[in-house]
Amino acid sequence: MQPLLQGLFGRPYLYLDRCETTQRMLDAAQPEGAVALCEEQTAGRGRLGRRWEAPAGTSILVSVVLRPPRERKPAELTLVGGLAAAIAIERATGLAAQLKWPNDVMLDRRKVAGGLAELKDGAVVLGIGVNVNQRPGDLPDGTKAPAGSLRSVTGREHDRAALLVDLLLELERRYEAWREGGLDAVYDDLGARDFLRGRRVTVDGVEGTAQRITREGLLLVETEAEPLLVGSGEVDYRG
Ligand code: BTN
Repeated sequence: MQPLLQGLFGRPYLYLDRCETTQRMLDAAQPEGAVALCEEQTAGRGRLGRRWEAPAGTSILVSVVLRPPRERKPAELTLVGGLAAAIAIERATGLAAQLKWPNDVMLDRRKVAGGLAELKDGAVVLGIGVNVNQRPGDLPDGTKAPAGSLRSVTGREHDRAALLVDLLLELERRYEAWREGGLDAVYDDLGARDFLRGRRVTVDGVEGTAQRITREGLLLVETEAEPLLVGSGEVDYRG
């Protein structure tokens, strides 16, 4: 993989056939742009303490060390990572991908990728999982958003190496833009892919209609009582 990489991310490039989680292959001692990749995780982590499952050799399981400047909010990196994944997936499939706030990438109403930003001694380890070549029977059941893969949606296999190269390059570009200008710098591309916009949603038992991802990275929900600004947690949606 290493000779194929086009940007600065991937130096160093740590690879294992099997690991617990790529998130633990990296720490704050690594330079910005260090990348860890596995073919299989035995304890893959999702948001909110969930597991992230994928059969060996079917998906992209990658983590990157980032060192955002003090004035930026690290939590926004799940949006930046999700946006980069969505754009790379669009180029690979020719289909429009959306971002379900705060970290799910949706293709044909299925969740095909997710991002997880974890703080480690002042650095951020941003993990991205993309379901690439799983067949429908390989995908987890009973997830909040129905799971899909690029293959289950398009009906054909996809080149994981090419997708990873493009994803890391897109992530580097979007991260640089965010470093310089914050969420404003990526907002147009983010807003254009807002999956929840206009959907009926439930947040902590409160029902409403999602209006948009705000420029501060929050989700604005219109409820009967008053507008709700959601900063973290889980949003359930209908349909
Ligand atoms: C989510 O949607 O809940 C976030 C999923 C993040 C999964 C990726 S796969 C690579 C990295 N290693 C992990 O254990 N988790 C992230």
